[in-house]
Amino acid sequence: MNTLAIETSCDETSVSVVSDAAKIKSNVVSSQINVHAKFFGVVPELASREHIKNINPVLETALKEAGVNWANFSNKIDAIAFTCGPGLAGALLVGALAAKSLASVFKKPLIPVNHLEGHIYSSYIENKSVKPPFLSLIISGGHTELIIIKDFGKYEFLGATRDDAAGEAFDKAAKMLGLSYPGGPIIDERAEFGNCKAVNFTRPYLKGSWDFSFSGIKTALLNYLKKEPVKNEKHLNDICASFRQSVAETLCFKAFEAAQKFGLKQIVLGGGVSSNSLIRKLFMESGKKNKIKVYIPSLVYCSDNAAMIGCAAYLKQKKCGLKYSAELLKSNPSLRLKNWK
Ligand code: KG4
Ligand code: ZN
Repeated sequence: MNTLAIETSCDETSVSVVSDAAKIKSNVVSSQINVHAKFFGVVPELASREHIKNINPVLETALKEAGVNWANFSNKIDAIAFTCGPGLAGALLVGALAAKSLASVFKKPLIPVNHLEGHIYSSYIENKSVKPPFLSLIISGGHTELIIIKDFGKYEFLGATRDDAAGEAFDKAAKMLGLSYPGGPIIDERAEFGNCKAVNFTRPYLKGSWDFSFSGIKTALLNYLKKEPVKNEKHLNDICASFRQSVAETLCFKAFEAAQKFGLKQIVLGGGVSSNSLIRKLFMESGKKNKIKVYIPSLVYCSDNAAMIGCAAYLKQKKCGLKYSAELLKSNPSLRLKNWK
């Protein structure tokens, strides 16, 4: 089955043509980072306007790369998938409208996909041995969620962040340090040259709960900077390394504790923060030590992309078929994960 997938939930306009769940024929991502960088975060209204500007060129490039044009579209594309939530209201509408227009013109079925399901199943694109049951840790700019995937489309929610998402914590820390947006990759890069033991930031393990909280580490950084303003490049790199160490160890500790408690033999990461080099290293090392298989997508499938939406759509239609209620086809900015029926 060839799926045309569209993702516009936040600040990336992306279109992909995916064959079944895995053969990525094209995956075009247009990032809006330059537009939002001066505001140190995504500005929803600007994001919608950028999606409107970008959706047609991105769509045409993705089709062209996959060998699809308007003349052969009907033969080459079997279904159209789109992110229906959660995300920014205006941004979601642009992708939904594009998907619905194409579905209506070419008389193709629509598959609505929850953005989180894109991140949960993104590892499946490169690795077919990812099979439920597994523990999913989604770490991105908007989410930090720990979920047991009992089967494809069958979820047991364990915990989430009580305040900042992991990516948001990196972005806010970078702003405090005078670094640019998005802060995660910059802190990660600088951390490679720093001493992670220079500052002992708190590890908020929240014993007895599967939730996360990153606001404490952020406050610890703020308090530290009040006492010890950044002196030089080396000092800055040391702070970045110490901050990254604290976030990474907290995520790793809680994920492995949950996997062990629930007897899960696979941990699957997804979301932009899973690009972090220390998080990748700690999870792989802990996986080996604890005999738990860890799957982390390649960098291109960690951050928002339409290929993961196409992959999730394929898995979903395999289980649920191709008929979705009008309710499911509506965009919903605060959509929650629901079991597939
Ligand atoms: O998944 P994503 O592209 O978009 C959302 O759905 O939010 O994640 C973006 C987030 C940003 O907060 C960014 O700072 C963070 O991912 N990020 C990183 C790294 N690369 C991106 N955080 C830590 N280390 C990185 N290498
Ligand atoms: Zn995302």
